[in-house]
Amino acid sequence: MVEAQGANEKRKRDVLSGTSSADRISQRSDSGISEGSVLSTGQNQVGAVRKLLVTGGAGFIGSNFVHMLRHDRPDWQITVIDKMGYAGNKASLDGVMKDISFVEGDICNEELIDGLVADCDLVVHFAAESHNDNSLNNPWPFVESNLLGTYRILEAVRKHSKKLHHISTDEVYGDLELNDPAKFNESTRYNPSSPYSSTKAGSDMLVHAWVRSFGIHATISNCSNNYGPRQHVEKFIPRQITEVLEGRKPKLYGTGEQVRDWIHVDDHNSAVLAIIENGQSGNVYLIGADGEKDNKSVVELILKGMGKEASDYDHVNDRPGHDMRYAIDSTKLQNELGWQPKYTNFADGLKATVEWYKENESWWKPLKAETEAKYKKAGQ
Ligand SMILES: NC(=O)c1ccc[n+]([C@@H]2O[C@H](COP(=O)([O-])OP(=O)(O)OC[C@H]3O[C@@H](n4cnc5c(N)ncnc54)[C@H](O)[C@@H]3O)[C@@H](O)[C@H]2O)c1
Repeated sequence: MVEAQGANEKRKRDVLSGTSSADRISQRSDSGISEGSVLSTGQNQVGAVRKLLVTGGAGFIGSNFVHMLRHDRPDWQITVIDKMGYAGNKASLDGVMKDISFVEGDICNEELIDGLVADCDLVVHFAAESHNDNSLNNPWPFVESNLLGTYRILEAVRKHSKKLHHISTDEVYGDLELNDPAKFNESTRYNPSSPYSSTKAGSDMLVHAWVRSFGIHATISNCSNNYGPRQHVEKFIPRQITEVLEGRKPKLYGTGEQVRDWIHVDDHNSAVLAIIENGQSGNVYLIGADGEKDNKSVVELILKGMGKEASDYDHVNDRPGHDMRYAIDSTKLQNELGWQPKYTNFADGLKATVEWYKENESWWKPLKAETEAKYKKAGQ
């Protein structure tokens, strides 16, 4: 079903001409995909953007991105496409829906994507199946959305000479040992563990190939674990917060020693904005905010911040193949594009997130019972 609404419908079609030839291409090194080499000295920045197609814009990060753009770039015209699966939520676009065009549809729909891409300057591609646990239960939707969906986007971008920013994850790099001081950087070898991370890795590879083989204009970012408003209650931090809000104990996977490098969603999105405005085509940028914390500490911080005993949680079955540690080195992004995170204190960002869930019960309540029923079935 296609549903369009909002002020952009009325706006005149003023497709801007784009300099879409890629000046950098990805190169495969012994250690995997590395940043590109310069092929020509022409205009290779993403450059002037006015009309954006945001895929997956009713999901967690995409909807926060749309809110940020409406505030920071109010003259940009935004179209969101989202298939409105279980993770898409129109309420996440409350307050901005009247200012954007919203299309309910699937990125795997060739004809639909062709028309939408033809009518934009730049695609910011968030849409994906994103939950590791779901990918272990049924990998197919991940193959479909993350691989086939990205293929459809790439083919439309190629056909219409448009620009693309592809949103990816640090999970494509697999995991690090707990006592390893190393961090992921743009040259780290791909080594995904789950159907989720392997389909994201595959989608990154498709983008690299389309840059190299067809010269499309594209950038990729690989970000660490996000937290913040409007994240589905199936995900680790909102699940724990809403368990406490419903009067139950948080649930910790296994021993909780796994380390994640947390970044506030607004910091992820400010980095994406920096990349789409000043990034170099063919380049990969890792996004992280030095927010390493083990899962047990996160649960304890949530409990303490919500006025409970830090030890008042339950242990549940660990996830099979659970990655141990992720850590991002975002030096390239900081040095080349001057990006800096705003939320440098995780406890403060977490506090603000707890407040958001307290104040927005009507957003998360309808999702909660079904989500917990699924976890219960899995012993989690
Ligand atoms: N959440 C994180 O911590 C994190 C970290 C790094 C990267 N990422 C990446 O960021 C992107 C967004 O993640 P999120 O956490 O917002 O996920 P999300 O699940 O909250 O949102 C994804 C959105 O994409 C939509 N979607 C899925 N398949 C689609 C399809 N075939 N057609 C149209 N829409 C479709 C869903 O309906 C949903 O609204 C993903 O690409 C994910 O891999 C997420």
